[in-house]
Amino acid sequence: MSPAGQAAAEFRRLHDRAPAGVWSAPGRVNLIGEHTDYNDGFVLPFALPHRIAVAASPRSDGVLTAVTIGADGLAQHATPTPIADLEPGLIGGWAAFPSGVAWVLRGHGIDGGADLVITGDVPTGAGLSSSHALQCAVALALLGLADVTVPLPELARWVQRSENDFVGAPTGLLDQTASLCCVDSHVLFLDVRSGEQEQIPFAPADHGLGVLAIDTRVKHSLADSAYGDRRKGCERAAELLGVPSLRDAVDIDGLPDNLLPLARHVVTENARVLRTVEFLRADKPHLVGDALTQSHVSLRDDYQVSCPELDVAVEAAVGAGALGARMTGGGFGGTAIALVPTELDKTVRAAVASAFAERSFTAPRMFAAVPSPGAGRDY
Ligand code: GLA
Repeated sequence: MSPAGQAAAEFRRLHDRAPAGVWSAPGRVNLIGEHTDYNDGFVLPFALPHRIAVAASPRSDGVLTAVTIGADGLAQHATPTPIADLEPGLIGGWAAFPSGVAWVLRGHGIDGGADLVITGDVPTGAGLSSSHALQCAVALALLGLADVTVPLPELARWVQRSENDFVGAPTGLLDQTASLCCVDSHVLFLDVRSGEQEQIPFAPADHGLGVLAIDTRVKHSLADSAYGDRRKGCERAAELLGVPSLRDAVDIDGLPDNLLPLARHVVTENARVLRTVEFLRADKPHLVGDALTQSHVSLRDDYQVSCPELDVAVEAAVGAGALGARMTGGGFGGTAIALVPTELDKTVRAAVASAFAERSFTAPRMFAAVPSPGAGRDY
């Protein structure tokens, strides 16, 4: 059953009535453009087929209830909380995600209570934006119940506020925008500074290619200090260079040793995104492999957000014939992607699996990352 069908069925089971509606939002992979979003740069994500669905109905008492159904089928109930009482710091754990969204919407005058039942198949802690998919689906559900429409790029900023100010993770705009704005069979080229978006057709299967996702099963957390430290380092580097953000940096040689590699990653990564965009606009996806692998090397050596499992996944995939591979998302664990000729898919999977086994790493979880539709209403 689809996550949307499952959310509706669970809602009926828990509340003894049908939900008023079901909304869902996908996880994402970022093809290239990592740690560029909070530097006003370029990103190029696409939506995954994996989604988080929210079945919802309004409540007249202003209270938010939320239940999440895990992969094991077990329900976890958040403490029912009046939306009027929500404040940052009040709610931790997974319940911070729906609560944070309700808190942001309250600031825009959308403050009706709701019952939410949440389920989905986006792997959690895998760098595939499960938490953003959850927040985007909740945002659409609460807006839908209130019969309010917000332009999706604007809604992405609202969800970012939930993540930054309520959940407490200082993340950029990549994930929310990807989940809300991606369209089927395309990558989304987003200029974070201007907000300009271009949907570029991306159907690798038509070219005898596939994007293989390799979830290393090393859990990452964006609320950890390492992500925020990189972000602060970038801001400091921009300040020293006298530019608004590293998007504008040209000559970075004068930076101190601890900041120079951070800036070098951002400057070269933005250039790699633009190069990749040119190839994809020309319908030549088989030419983007080098940029992917260079991106990984830059994230590993300059930005230092990789980990041994991600490095092994990339090396094994490329060694077995992938045209390019890289970590995707924030890093410190999570998922790598590899651009693989279809006839080598099995070979690459086997090479990655045996490289992990040789090092006694937990077996990775691999699946085809197929560009899929963005968020929306299901029922
Ligand atoms: C996480 C954040 C994004 C972005 C990426 C790195 O996914 O949520 O905003 O910074 O890391 O590109």
